[in-house]
Amino acid sequence: MYTLDELQSIVKKCHRCPLSKARTNVVFGEGSEKATIMFIGEGPGYNEDKMGRPFVGRAGELLDRMIEAIGFKREDVYIANVVKCRPPNNRDPLEEESEICIEFLRWQVKIVDPDIIVCLGRIAAKSIIHKDFRITQNRGIWYNKGKFNIMATYHPAALLRDESKKRDAWEDFKSIKRKYEELNEDMKG
Ligand code: URA
Repeated sequence: MYTLDELQSIVKKCHRCPLSKARTNVVFGEGSEKATIMFIGEGPGYNEDKMGRPFVGRAGELLDRMIEAIGFKREDVYIANVVKCRPPNNRDPLEEESEICIEFLRWQVKIVDPDIIVCLGRIAAKSIIHKDFRITQNRGIWYNKGKFNIMATYHPAALLRDESKKRDAWEDFKSIKRKYEELNEDMKG
């Protein structure tokens, strides 16, 4: 088993796919090593590539506000992406790029060992929940995979493009909070 630091130094040197050629920085992920909730996006955008940190652009600011609205701070959770290097012109990651890179995400999940995994958008949901996932139909539904409670909601960038999605996304975030409380109650027995 790696530590997150060990894994990060491996990922930083990765050249397993062509996305590594154009990157400024690898965006490994960040947050609490003991997080109960892990958010997973699709891949770094322009700002994330420049800064080497996930969700630091406008979508990231919105994500931070939503995390705070349900009573957590960004530092309490763990935030990562399916692919760690920016796809050119913000295109969707290709299936083969996701397949190669998701091994690193699996390690992150193993190390952080969250109870709740939230997929942000279609790409993360397809890679993590099932390949035929439809974000409009299947968002907000809880899936169980082993010990993990997994749900997908809209990507914050989609909420910036279409304000009408915000109401559903807010319902999903309230459901995340309820799941967290339910699991905490179970722990107390
Ligand atoms: N969009 C993502 O999917 N991930 C980020 O880190 C930033 C924007």
